[in-house]
Amino acid sequence: MDVKRVLITGTTSGVGRALLERYVRDQVAVVSVNRRRVPELEARHPSVRFECVDVRSSEGVERLIRELAASGTLPDVFILNAGINRMDNDARFDPSLYREVMETNLFGVLNFIGPLTALPATGVERHVVAVSSMVKYAGNPYGLGYATSKRALTACFDVWARMYAGTDLVFKQIMLGPVPTGIYAMDDRFPRWMAGLKKLSSASIDGTARAISRFAGNRKKKLLYPLRALPLFGAMWLGRALIPGFFPSFFDGRKTIGGGPRRPRNER
Ligand SMILES: NC(=O)c1ccc[n+]([C@@H]2O[C@H](COP(=O)([O-])OP(=O)(O)OC[C@H]3O[C@@H](n4cnc5c(N)ncnc54)[C@H](OP(=O)(O)O)[C@@H]3O)[C@@H](O)[C@H]2O)c1
Repeated sequence: MDVKRVLITGTTSGVGRALLERYVRDQVAVVSVNRRRVPELEARHPSVRFECVDVRSSEGVERLIRELAASGTLPDVFILNAGINRMDNDARFDPSLYREVMETNLFGVLNFIGPLTALPATGVERHVVAVSSMVKYAGNPYGLGYATSKRALTACFDVWARMYAGTDLVFKQIMLGPVPTGIYAMDDRFPRWMAGLKKLSSASIDGTARAISRFAGNRKKKLLYPLRALPLFGAMWLGRALIPGFFPSFFDGRKTIGGGPRRPRNER
């Protein structure tokens, strides 16, 4: 596919920002969707159409898609990248943090799918790309919203990729491994050797943006990137299954069973 216009969510930092810079360099028209204005970013890229929309707002996202369609500027690629990670399940489960993550990582993508699937077919192919995660293979229990939002996202895109096969809507997803951005967190919750393994398995931000932009325009439905990170998730899965105390605070919590009420770790 010859990509002429791309929409990217979450371009203020990390992978989204690197994607924006890459597409601008390649002279592709960019629609950037952020929840806040960043004057420095907007001044640096005058060719980009910056839209201030929180992806959690279904009304805001629907309005944007309607406007783009009405003005004949609907992108041919949508990279639904915005995401957050929160420690919502450490000493206690925090439902409000969990909800914030689900609303951003899952509904922040699904909000685009309703209006896109409602548009009449135009005969022009549009690629809809979800940025999911290898946490699908072994989630981090402390970021429970993160792991479950990405699993749900992957499940939805698996269904849509099959349902819409052969139509003008092409559903694709990236299972991303570790990339050193703001989301790259919680290393203190893992055994030291695993944090080291994670560092070794990480992809660079620019390398990731290059891989995603190539994938976004091709016919493949799924990209695992970087492949060398898969053993890390295998190690996490095995460690959790076989090594007692692999996730320290989880096992601290278990010790209170039969020994009185649970208390936050910092009060023990
Ligand atoms: N880095 C990794 O190791 C890794 C691994 C697997 C998957 N991923 C996925 O890659 C994607 C990009 O993350 P990143 O690593 O580049 O992290 P990042 O640097 O923290 O970027 C996240 C972006 O999402 C934006 N965002 C958050 N909530 C939003 C909302 N409600 N509406 C609009 N934009 C919002 C942020 O904007 P603000 O500046 O306003 O917060 C920021 O631009 C995420 O979906 C993440 O889950 C990352």
